Amino acid sequence: MKKGMIFDLDGVIVNTTFYHFKAWQYLAKQINIYFDISFNENLKGISRIESLEKILIYGDKEKIFNTTEKYILMAKKNDYYVKLLSKLSKRDIFPGVLDFIKQTRKKKIPCAIASASKNATLILERLNIKDYFNVIVDPYSVTNSKPNPEIFLMAANLINILPSEAIGFEDSQAGIDGLNKANIFSVGISSENNLVGAKLLVNSFKKINFEQLIMV
Ligand code: BG6
Ligand code: MG
Repeated sequence: MKKGMIFDLDGVIVNTTFYHFKAWQYLAKQINIYFDISFNENLKGISRIESLEKILIYGDKEKIFNTTEKYILMAKKNDYYVKLLSKLSKRDIFPGVLDFIKQTRKKKIPCAIASASKNATLILERLNIKDYFNVIVDPYSVTNSKPNPEIFLMAANLINILPSEAIGFEDSQAGIDGLNKANIFSVGISSENNLVGAKLLVNSFKKINFEQLIMV
């Protein structure tokens, strides 16, 4: 039986994808780079700096900005993103996910967050759901970003279970790859059939049978 759950935040618990997209689009426009929501798929699960690098490559501007300028660009994106987050509400939480977490906690199974976002704690506090999680692992606590397994291994360690005893939930390819490298049972949450290597793929937590899942 599995003994712990590790959740990604953006795209798994809360739908922040559009806010991230809007904020990157706003920033990119200022440096004459234009992209649409389909390009945004490439930015899921990866760090802020990696997202910026991908946007710059897409716009053929990867050699134009030095490190300091890149930090300024990222700060602008984040300021705008955080402003957009003021609109965040319980309505942005995906259907079924809180019931699933409540069921998990009732069974005394610990839950961890493993998020690539430096805004993870802010979002959890704003939605008043932080107390559901025993630990929050975010980029402030790790050196390597997804698909490196470090963040997931640390989360499993902090809830005192072996990776093989954990189940991880991810909406990004980088996340699924990281879970698989960590030897954690990977559940892909996606409405498209686009997560390669997920051990289980569902489009909603509503489709997950808790009792069956913990026996995998
Ligand atoms: C991930 C998102 O959770 O966090 C990415 O899927 C985002 O799209 C990354 O770039 C970093 O987020 P933040 O909030 O630290 O800029
Ligand atoms: Mg995600």
